[in-house]
Amino acid sequence: MSLASLRAYALSKNVPIITDEVYRFLEVFVLEHNIKDVLEIGTAIGYSALAMASFGCNIKTFERDEFMIEEAKRHFDLFDDQKHITLIPFDALTYQGDLGMFDLIFIDAAKSQYQTFFNKYDPYLKPGGFIVCDNLHFHHLTPEKVNRHTQGLLRKLKAFKIFLAEHPHFETTFYDVGDGLSVSKKVRK
Ligand SMILES: C[S@@+](CC[C@H](N)C(=O)[O-])C[C@H]1O[C@@H](n2cnc3c(N)ncnc32)[C@H](O)[C@@H]1O
Repeated sequence: MSLASLRAYALSKNVPIITDEVYRFLEVFVLEHNIKDVLEIGTAIGYSALAMASFGCNIKTFERDEFMIEEAKRHFDLFDDQKHITLIPFDALTYQGDLGMFDLIFIDAAKSQYQTFFNKYDPYLKPGGFIVCDNLHFHHLTPEKVNRHTQGLLRKLKAFKIFLAEHPHFETTFYDVGDGLSVSKKVRK
């Protein structure tokens, strides 16, 4: 199986995965910044983890959904790059085990929890490392046109972007890539 056919499979099953644009962004980013060790939150069927492994990274990746865990395992088994991937089949919000330290933390999971993920995993970032968050535009939805639950998510994402912009230890750049991406560089401990 190729990454292209895995992408096609994800799209056919309506599994949300990184866009082609985000794929290319990450590829350049990983090479430019010599990223080796990556922590990912949100494996789904394994596409972005396999993509980053193909760029030469070692990935530890969290997934909490039983079905996705089985799908990811099945796909990892089909790629040689699987030796660079460790699936952590746990909820990243409550996980307590050892992890190591990372050059990049890629957050692509429940949007309502981005700030909690950020704060919980910040200590696992090497000095000068990066936290990248995907899907910050949330399809450019506006509060007037969505239900109360989605309005709550929009409020949280808005507050999260302010949190990033004002964080004293990180310098954040927002990119109009895919569905909106932030790159936060850890500049102070
Ligand atoms: C957008 S998908 C990830 C897509 C994947 N990164 C890719 O591009 O191929 C989000 C995934 O995050 C998982 N997820 C959400 N909250 C999580 C949590 N607290 N811990 C672990 N996984 C979580 C969901 O089950 C879902 O499969």
